[in-house]
Amino acid sequence: MTESNWRPRVWWQSAAIYELYVQSFADSDGDGIGDLAGVRARLPYLAELGVDAIWYSPWYPSPRSDAGYDVADYRSIDPAFGTLADADALIAEGHQHGIRTIIDVVPNHCSDQHPWFAAALAAPPGSAERARFWFRPGRGEHGDRPPNDWQSIFGGPAWTRTSAADGTPGEWYLHLFAPEQPDFNWGNPEVRAEFEDILRFWFDRGVDGIRIDSAALLTKDPALPDSDPSDPSPYTDRDDVHDIYRAWRAVADEYPARVLIGEIWLPDATRFARYLRPDELHTVFNFPYLCAPWDAAGLRQVIDGTLSFHAAVGAPATWVLSNHDVDRHVSRYGRADTSFALDRRDHSQPVDLALGTRRARAAALLTMALPGSAYLYQGEELGLGEVEDLPAARRQDPIWHRTNGADPGRDGSRVPLPWSGTEPPFGFSPPGARKEPWLPQPPAWRALTVQAEAADPDSMLTLYRRALHLRRTEFPPGAPMTWLSSFSGVPVPAAVLAFTRGQLACITNLSPSPVELPAGDLILTSTPLTSTPLTSTPLDGTSPLDGTALAGGLLPSDATAWIRLAATP
Ligand code: GLC
Repeated sequence: MTESNWRPRVWWQSAAIYELYVQSFADSDGDGIGDLAGVRARLPYLAELGVDAIWYSPWYPSPRSDAGYDVADYRSIDPAFGTLADADALIAEGHQHGIRTIIDVVPNHCSDQHPWFAAALAAPPGSAERARFWFRPGRGEHGDRPPNDWQSIFGGPAWTRTSAADGTPGEWYLHLFAPEQPDFNWGNPEVRAEFEDILRFWFDRGVDGIRIDSAALLTKDPALPDSDPSDPSPYTDRDDVHDIYRAWRAVADEYPARVLIGEIWLPDATRFARYLRPDELHTVFNFPYLCAPWDAAGLRQVIDGTLSFHAAVGAPATWVLSNHDVDRHVSRYGRADTSFALDRRDHSQPVDLALGTRRARAAALLTMALPGSAYLYQGEELGLGEVEDLPAARRQDPIWHRTNGADPGRDGSRVPLPWSGTEPPFGFSPPGARKEPWLPQPPAWRALTVQAEAADPDSMLTLYRRALHLRRTEFPPGAPMTWLSSFSGVPVPAAVLAFTRGQLACITNLSPSPVELPAGDLILTSTPLTSTPLTSTPLDGTSPLDGTALAGGLLPSDATAWIRLAATP
């Protein structure tokens, strides 16, 4: 039995948070790119969906070398998206709908168009302007080899050489991502002061939370040594990164009920938990849960591990199935290998979309029943899959370009949403739009538009709406989770995840056969129960359950049920 002893106090500890990828949500002005006016017009949709907060992907002016994660001005809005006044209105109108605003702050790097980087390029080696970044002479007699062997996370070397206006080669600068994303030097007090000011700028405008991009990468070993696999990484999860978050927490604590959320990919739960100490971040994304295969033992292990390391630091857990960096889970769960890793996106595997969709429905109910906050990524409420066949000429992701297509990259999860109609742009852009959506939508999405699904009682959208509303009323935010080992005296089969929170039981059947359910009122299922009579044999071969089992049938394979229990099972 696992129990979390954590009790929620404020909104973010149990919120359902919608990741809104601005350029792909809704385009109000027909330029093929989503914008803030498009979001404002659809706030009622999000309120009806039942989310408590929106996390906006970066909305700042950006040349879009990495879809906005290359920020040219942290205190403004990209003109393609709107204006600061639009953002203010969006924050205020969101609050009127009961929806809070979380923005994405990108502190590891900026755009090469940021005024600080332009000034650094114009300034000489050793200058104060260059000291805000990592500029170094190259190695070798002519300085024509990078200062060290670090590789970019997007492929290729992590260093690019500068050249003077007359073409004379100069120093190199560090970029852990694309060359258009120079890394800040967080050892420089100016960088620290600048970001604390940026946090206040947005908190003063009413923003409720900050999602911190690439949060474990900010500080580097100032000696910039070659990487040595046997040593701690010189640029990931260094001890000194925590000083930054202690300072940020102090800023957040100047305001009521603000939240700091870290994007942290680390294999080691002990290191992970350090970011959640009481004077650091409030929550971190749960990527082990996202990456886990569709397998009961694996999921149970991740859930237990998550709850225990969060309980140890007194922080609430988070649960996430998809985001703008990973293959959409409808596709992942329809493959032979249902696990995911950032360094092996594999679009060569056949996808059984019907199976993936069925599992995605089950996974959604499992995720929303767990204690803590739940993230959903735009489009998952429609059951969108990864678009794996985008034409090469339309692809934008630097990962695809920098690996020469060896890694398909992330464009397939970023295709603009289908809202209505039977042909692209499916209501994403207004009638008579000047441009096509920035990434092409598959014609098959005509069956997955909001319009088509809103009226369909069996659609993914209807399931999400019901689940998100029931989540608020049926799962008390502070209710601990307890695994069920048996119901009606019969052991729960190993391939079934069954737990209670308050009076509700959540049962997910990952076995190949239907299973019995505990006695109680069925309040939601991801797939209708099978009508097999109650005399079926439980999976473990024990005697059939008696008449205390739920009237109405068995829970099929790859399905989840929420049941209000009649009594303690
Ligand atoms: C984060 C973002 C990703 C971006 C990268 C560099 O991982 O989620 O989209 O490319 O940071 O900013």
